[in-house]
This record gives sequence, C-alpha cells and structure tokens, in this order.
Amino acid sequence: MSQPHQSMRLADYRPPAYTITDVDLTFELEDHQTRVTAVSQVVRQGETQAVLELDGEHLTLLALTVDGEDKTPEQQTDTALVLTDLPEQFELKVVTEIDPANNTALEGLYKSDGTFCTQCEAQGFRRITYFLDRPDVMAKYSVKVIADKHKYPSLLSNGNLVERGDLDDGRHWVRWQDPFAKPCYLFALVAGDFDCLTDRYTTGSGREVALELYVDKGNRHRGYHALASLKKAMQWDEQVYGLEYDLGVYMVVAVDFFNMGAMENKGLNIFNAKFVLADAESATDDDYFNIESVIAHEYFHNWTGNRVTCRDWFQLSLKEGLTVFRDQQFSADMASPALVRIKQARVIREHQFAEDAGPMAHPIRPEEVMEMNNFYSVTVYDKGAEVIRMLQRLLGQGGFRKGMDLYFERHDGQAVTCDDFVQAMADANGVDLEQFKRWYSQSGTPQVTVQSEYDAKHQQLILTLSQHTPPTQDQADKQPLPIPFGVELVDEHGSRSEVLSLSESEQRFCFDHVASNPAIACLTGFSAPVKVKQTIADSDLIRIALKGQDDFVRWDACQTLFSQHIHQLAEDSSRNSSEQVSEALSELIAELLKSPPEDAALLAEMLMLPSFDTLSQQQDIVNVDGLLRARKLIVTRLAQEFATQWQQLVDERPKQDYAYTAEQANWRRLLDRAMFYLAHSELPEAETQLQQVYQDSDNMTQTLGVLTGCQQANLSLFDSLMSDFEQLWRKDSLVMDKWFSLHASRPQDDMAGQLESLMEHPMYSINNPNKVRAIWGPFAMRNPQAFHQADGRGYRLLTDYLLNLDSVNPQVASRLVTPLLAFKRFDLGRQQHMRQQLERLAEQATLSRDLYEKVTRALK
Ligand code: PHE
Ligand code: ZN
Repeated sequence: MSQPHQSMRLADYRPPAYTITDVDLTFELEDHQTRVTAVSQVVRQGETQAVLELDGEHLTLLALTVDGEDKTPEQQTDTALVLTDLPEQFELKVVTEIDPANNTALEGLYKSDGTFCTQCEAQGFRRITYFLDRPDVMAKYSVKVIADKHKYPSLLSNGNLVERGDLDDGRHWVRWQDPFAKPCYLFALVAGDFDCLTDRYTTGSGREVALELYVDKGNRHRGYHALASLKKAMQWDEQVYGLEYDLGVYMVVAVDFFNMGAMENKGLNIFNAKFVLADAESATDDDYFNIESVIAHEYFHNWTGNRVTCRDWFQLSLKEGLTVFRDQQFSADMASPALVRIKQARVIREHQFAEDAGPMAHPIRPEEVMEMNNFYSVTVYDKGAEVIRMLQRLLGQGGFRKGMDLYFERHDGQAVTCDDFVQAMADANGVDLEQFKRWYSQSGTPQVTVQSEYDAKHQQLILTLSQHTPPTQDQADKQPLPIPFGVELVDEHGSRSEVLSLSESEQRFCFDHVASNPAIACLTGFSAPVKVKQTIADSDLIRIALKGQDDFVRWDACQTLFSQHIHQLAEDSSRNSSEQVSEALSELIAELLKSPPEDAALLAEMLMLPSFDTLSQQQDIVNVDGLLRARKLIVTRLAQEFATQWQQLVDERPKQDYAYTAEQANWRRLLDRAMFYLAHSELPEAETQLQQVYQDSDNMTQTLGVLTGCQQANLSLFDSLMSDFEQLWRKDSLVMDKWFSLHASRPQDDMAGQLESLMEHPMYSINNPNKVRAIWGPFAMRNPQAFHQADGRGYRLLTDYLLNLDSVNPQVASRLVTPLLAFKRFDLGRQQHMRQQLERLAEQATLSRDLYEKVTRALK
C-alpha cells in the first residue's frame, strides 16, 4: 500500500502566521517550460519566530528572494517550502518552472487541447507557485501574461485589462488587475485562440458590464443560449437578492478538458464546454436546462463564494450549499418548478442517501478530510442546499432575505464559517438556531416514522411523528434534528396542508375538524432531506396522486406505489408475470392519462418508474436480480396494457420547429416517456413508428428519446440508428459523448468487448474527463445489469480501468470508484467480488491520495 497520507481536521484550524496582501504574477507561457514569477507582499500576523510554510507541488524552484536578497529555505519537500528568520513585513519573490502540457491531472495550469487554462480550486494554485494556498489568505492580484501572439491571441485573467503590448520575438503580453482581494483558488488565467461572443448588460444602478463568451473556433452559434442565460441570472439576482455585478467585464471561457462542471474564478469563469455550448440539433432540453443552471450557479458565486468566501475548506458548503440553493430557486423561476423539485429529490435519494449509507458518510461541514477534492460531494452540495432551503422555510422568504442582507453587510470581503452564516440568519430574525446547527455537524439520513389515528366521532386526526438517524461510518451517536415536515391531508372533499415542526424524538400533532379519514401525504415540496416510513394503502396513494395539491407529493405517491409493487414482485422470484400485483398501477396510469395534470413535465415524471438506484436505496441488502426482473416486468406490463395510448401520444406530438421553451420542453418530456413505453410494447408497428420519429426529428432531444427507448427495450432498431447517428456526428466531440453513453448504458450481461471497442474510437482519450465519464459513468452508475453481474466481471472491468486512470487523473478516478464503495449493501457473493477489487486498488504502491482515502475508508 502507498505511503499513508495525512488527514486534516476542522478542530485543528489555526489562522495563518503570515498573510499575503498583494501579488504580482508574471507568466511566460510555454508548453513544457512555463516560467512563473510571483512577487508577494507578506505580513506577519503570528508571533515573532513564526515560520512561513508555503505550499507547493510539482514545481521546479528557480529562484527565491526576500526583500531582494537570495534566500535559502530552511526546508524543501515535495509539498512545501519552509522559510525562517523573516522580518515582520517583506517582499517575497519566487520563480518557478512548470510543465502545463504534461499536466493530466488538470489542476493548476494545464493545456486543454491548444488552450492554456487554470483550475485552482481547491488546492491547485500550489501547482503554479509556492504560496499560502488557503482561502483565508486574501490578496489583490496583478497578472502579466506573455505568450506567442499568433497561437494565443486571447490572454485573459481576473479583473480588468490595464495594459498590453507586443514583443519583438512574436510574443505579446497583457496585464490584468483585479481590484478585489481574493483567495488564490479564485485566480484564473486563459490563453488561446477563440471565437468570442459579446454582449452588454446594464446593472440596476447603471454599471455597464461587457459580457464575453469564449468558445472554440467555429462554435459561435452554440454560445447564444449561455449568454442569454447569463443575462437572466444577472437580472434575477438583482430582483430576488438585490445583488449586482461588480466589475466592468464578465468573461466565460469554454474548454474541452475539465474535471468538473465549471469554476467561478473572479470575473473569468472557466467552463466545461458541455455546460456552455448548445443548439437544437446537437443539444437536448436537459443540456439547455443544465447550461442555464450552471451559468447561473457560477454567476451567483460572485456574491456567495467570492465576495464572501470560506475560511477553510471544511466550510465548503457555506458557498456551495447556498449557491446550489440559489441556482435551484432560479431554475424553478425559469421553467417547471415541480420538475426542478423532483429532479432534486431524486439526486438526494439516489446519491446523497447512498453517500450517507457508505464509507464516505460526512456531515455537510466535514470534520476530517484527507483529499479535499473528495468532498465536492453530493452531501456538501445538494444536502447543503436542502439545509438552506429548510432555513428559508423556517424563517419565511422575507426573514431569509433579511438574513442574507445581514450576512453580506457583516461579511463582505471576508473569509467566514458556516456558523457565521447561521448567526446572521438568527440575528436578523431574532431567533435561536442552536439546534438547527446540528444539520451542519451531524451526518446521516434521518428517518421519520409516521403513524396516524383517526377518530371519526370527534373528527380528529392524530399524527405521531418520530425521528431516528441510524449511525453512519463516521459518527455513531445521533441527535434529534429540527425537521420541517410538510403534510397534506387529502380526502374526497379536498385537501389541507401544514408544515409541522418536528424537533424531538417523538411528537404528536392533532388536527381538528377532519371530516373523514384522509390520505396522508408526507413531505410536501420535499420539505426535508429525510426518509419517510409510513404504512399507506394503494388507494390512498392513488388519491394523493390524483387529487393532491402539492406537485411533489403527487409525484411521490406514484413513486411509492411503483416501489411497493416492484419490491413485492422482486421478493417473489416464482412470479414471472406482474398480473397479480399491478392492478393498482393500471388504475393509476389509466386515471393519469384520462385526466392528466396541467404540467406535461409533471405527468411525464409521474409515469416514470423509480430508477434502480432509488429502489435499491429502499432495501437494506440490495436484491439486484429481483429488482431488475420486477422492474422490467412492470414496465412491459404497463407498456402493453396502454400501448394504444402511448402510440397516440407519440403520433400526436406537436410538430413545431424546435425552441427551448418551458412548454415545448415539458411536452417533449412526455413524448420521451411515451416512446419509452412504446418501445417496450411489443406492438408490431412500434419500430416503424419510432424510426419515423427519429427521421422527422429536428432536434437532439427527440432523437435521443428514440435512441434511449430503443436501447432500454433492446430493439434491433437501436443498432442501425446508432450507426446512422455516428456517421452524422463522428466529428462532434460533445455529441459523441451522448453516443458513447448510450453504448455504455445498454443493458446487457457482457460489456468487456463493447467497452474495449468504445475506447478504440478515434474520439476517445483517457486524458479527457468528458470521454472517460461518458463511457465509465453510465456503465458503473446507470447500467446495473452489466455492472452488477453476479460473477463480478463488471467490478473487475471498472477496476482494471481505474488502475490506469488513477495515474492520469486521480480526481476523475476517485469519482468513478463510488459504486464499488457501497459493497456492504450487496449480497455476500457480490460483496466479495467488490471487496476483492477494492483490495486490488489498495495494493497499488502509487495509489493517489484521492483513491487512497476512499478505498481505505471502505475497507475499514
Ligand atoms: N466551485 C465549482 C462550482 O461548484 C466546482 C469546482 C470545484 C470546479 C473544484 C473545479 C474544481 O461551481
Ligand atoms: Zn459552486
């Protein structure tokens, strides 16, 4: 096993002994020998003898001076430079050399195809120069970039462009200055040759902002949606939070090689091209949606993250939970609010609950971290956003806004903690949030058990709610949390709803004037990230689905009904038909199709069976084969029983030209559902009909809908359409990712040959995270049949690949290992196979810190 890596603990936080107030950086860009000169103004904050420990990795040190005099470091290691005997205030000059073209980890300065770009969050700046690489050191940056003028006409950094000039040797240079002090993780630099789309935005107070979107040559026409989204986000933040943009220019650069979605560097966002580029032919409605939401997310960070930043990385949710919450609010205002909420509930149930149940369980504010990159997690981000949402529910919209205002008033320009945020909320509203803070320190998924007693004589309903959070690997003891628990009581006369405050282990709530025994719908609006345990009759679920007022519980009632039936069928392997179990389901679908909800997207979601991942979260030990079999039986049954209706929905699709409007997108979602069932209907004309839909499609959403239906139903049409699709798109990197994913998620037993041939495709490269994720993500996370083969071959395939990938890009490898970490939740046979593969990883002498942390936690 590789050298043990060190963990960091929140409890060990100390303010830095020195800080840096100003930095002057000069970059002389070359593929393999980029020279970085960093001149920092350093000020001591701690005691006189304090040593200065600068972070630095993968650097060649060329020169080091203090106030102009050469300085010999006290100590130099692979990760640090230690200086002693320093004055109270001094100028530190560090000259380093780096190799961007060989930087495949994509942290620090690297080359993405022909473009130089940076990624510094969380700890990438230390790969550029020796520095105090921590967010509580905030400095003003002045940056000079020198590079070949012909190859790199655009030279960008944070803030405002102040000077530029040409050199005699074919190079040119620019100087950028950022007037706002910032932590180094928000530093960015880009050098390349782009098409640039420009626009203008005038803020509420009259500031003129130049908007610039940089995309690969030839992709200009795919940038308009992102630019329009940016303007919407700018306006929305002014309207809803009174927050304006603060610089004269806002730049967004799309790059092909990127580890994550996008990055909020001050004034210079760098984006994975996938979250920028869209047109009807090449992007789906989901792509349009995601672009709008990621553009907004990064923009919103300018206040929640940049103006007010994190004191240390344990506080990551301070900016991420809050900013995800804000981007969700924005998305809900732009399109179908029901759909946005359902998508989010799904993320929590499929992924966040799984994280809680596994070896990487952590609170939204983690306490112990080995590799920070491992904590850009669904817990920190998405559960973090749910925690903010609960706060908003508790304080009301007005109260929440007051809290936000006070937060900015107090902390603008500072690096602060989650406690500071909650305190601002508490003080602005004069409330005590001490118990609420447990949401930040306690990990795990609370379970709320609901029991009801109806007293017909007194027309009274008593609900008893009890909460319990099972222990997690990181934390044995759990305490009761304050849980806003929305309920809706639905009877034949109508419905009433209320948000109950559950804060003790058990509480009773009494409802008067309840005329008849109602169906009790829980967790309206998905009011808390908890699991609900409730015994509920099919008839009540159907009533909620059809008559409920809250869109979320209507959808959720369908999910519960489907789940209950799938689980029943899964447990009884003697049944190979869904006949006996699906009457309630038939009734539900029939009623939904007869009197559908107004929002077509909601109907589409209500008609969708819970995913394998959602179902498996509902079991202690996952019954892989049973679930796959039962789910398939029910799909086929519903496909056949309502075949004519699916067919009709497909036939009657509106045939307007494509536009990304809420109305059209919602309708296309329903079309997707109908095509999925049609593909499973076994109607003789189904294939011809689907082929027709493919042929007359003018947009990627519809095209992909056909392909997905055919793939899931295993129709032979799939193969011919896929080769047609490849012919058409083989030169288009982003579109080919969809093609890769469709192949990799195709349900089948043996994927070895398939994966092999995908990796031989000219478009594939192990250095490009989008390619790696397009193939291995769907295989390991959305293809249970292939991945969870009982003989363990799926696990072995993934591990073979991870062993290669880890040395290329540990961050991406570490994300892909996730499905193996859950091994304790599977049957003994699969458990053993998964464990064996984890052990293979553990035996690697050179395992990255990223994988090391996850694998050792899992094997503990
Ligand atoms: N801070 C980025 C975001 O959420 C995510 C990110 C983290 C990007 C680390 C790159 C590296 O918007
Ligand atoms: Zn973010």
